[in-house]
Amino acid sequence: MSEPVQSLIEAGTAARETVAGSDAGFLWDFWYPAVQSTEVKGNRLATAMLLEVPLVLGRTAEGKAFAMRDSCPHRGIPLSYGRYDGKTLECSYHGWKFEACSGQCVEIPSLTSQDKLKVERIFAGHFPSEERDGYFWVYMSAPESRLPEEIPAAPKLGTFSEKYRIAHLECDLPSHVDQGIIGLMDPAHGPFVHQSWYWRSRHSIHEKEKKFEPIPNGFRMSPHTPSSNSAPYRMLQKYTGEPVTTTIDFVLPNIRTEEIRSGKLWFSSRATVTPVRRDLCRIDFVAAWNLLLPVTIFRIFAEKFLRQDQQTMILQAEGLKHNPRLMLIDDADRPAKWYFGLKTNLVESRRTGAPMVHPMAGPVTLHWRS
Ligand code: FES
Ligand SMILES: [Fe+2]
Repeated sequence: MSEPVQSLIEAGTAARETVAGSDAGFLWDFWYPAVQSTEVKGNRLATAMLLEVPLVLGRTAEGKAFAMRDSCPHRGIPLSYGRYDGKTLECSYHGWKFEACSGQCVEIPSLTSQDKLKVERIFAGHFPSEERDGYFWVYMSAPESRLPEEIPAAPKLGTFSEKYRIAHLECDLPSHVDQGIIGLMDPAHGPFVHQSWYWRSRHSIHEKEKKFEPIPNGFRMSPHTPSSNSAPYRMLQKYTGEPVTTTIDFVLPNIRTEEIRSGKLWFSSRATVTPVRRDLCRIDFVAAWNLLLPVTIFRIFAEKFLRQDQQTMILQAEGLKHNPRLMLIDDADRPAKWYFGLKTNLVESRRTGAPMVHPMAGPVTLHWRS
């Protein structure tokens, strides 16, 4: 074997050992969004990486979403280089064919009538997949584990009228998913990172009091009237003449939802921070609304907002490279503390089989300036 090939194989083995041997801090056995639905058309396949697992995704001729490990069980070449006919995926190397939804091998062209190999006992890695809200969701079951008998349905964005507009945005963050998530729920960066004339200025910073309550696997900022220093909320209230209320939830593994209602008008959004690798995560943001707000205008503002977060996290990643000691302070970082508490307690309850202990004993009022 040539030297470069040998070292490639060694590097591959070493990488696998690192992945298997160290805990990357991912939460398995949850749904994660992999790609936007628009990336899969006809028999075209899409690829994605979730929790350091390479995936190939597509739709069957009947429109059913599927997700397979993007690696042929024979010799490991990515299956996404193969040919897909709407039912089976044929590997580009030796032509083994796999049924897309089950991953079951249905043909090995090199076999002769003398061979006794049970083709149907060979499976390519595959994961449950569902299409919802414009995403392919994949249920990432833990490596080497069996799928539970029943898995929950994939998350769904709340919508409150028959007709509405919807927009999808995404943005990569060069950091571990934990940093992405605590950045998402962090109230204190707003006046510094998201300053702009139409949203809020740095000088509008003022003291806030917010009530939180525990919910299964997460916490809720109890329904409240949104911050008076945000222009869009003021406009909404003026328009409907009715009070504006906002409910913000965070639930494991990575979902923040926000519902804003005022009379018949509503705006609903969901942000998920999904681990791609241990040093890379991705925000998927979807929003739906029935306000008179064109998608193009919304996208301009939302994209700017996301870029501001992304830019900050690029700078933060520069500092995190050197493993600094970090701190979480009260009360502004309390949601981040709950997130870490939820995560640890969930892992512990899965390990012991005991019910999960919620890190919040009951409702809490937090105070901060933002
Ligand atoms: S590597 Fe896929 S068929 Fe051989
Ligand atoms: Fe932000």
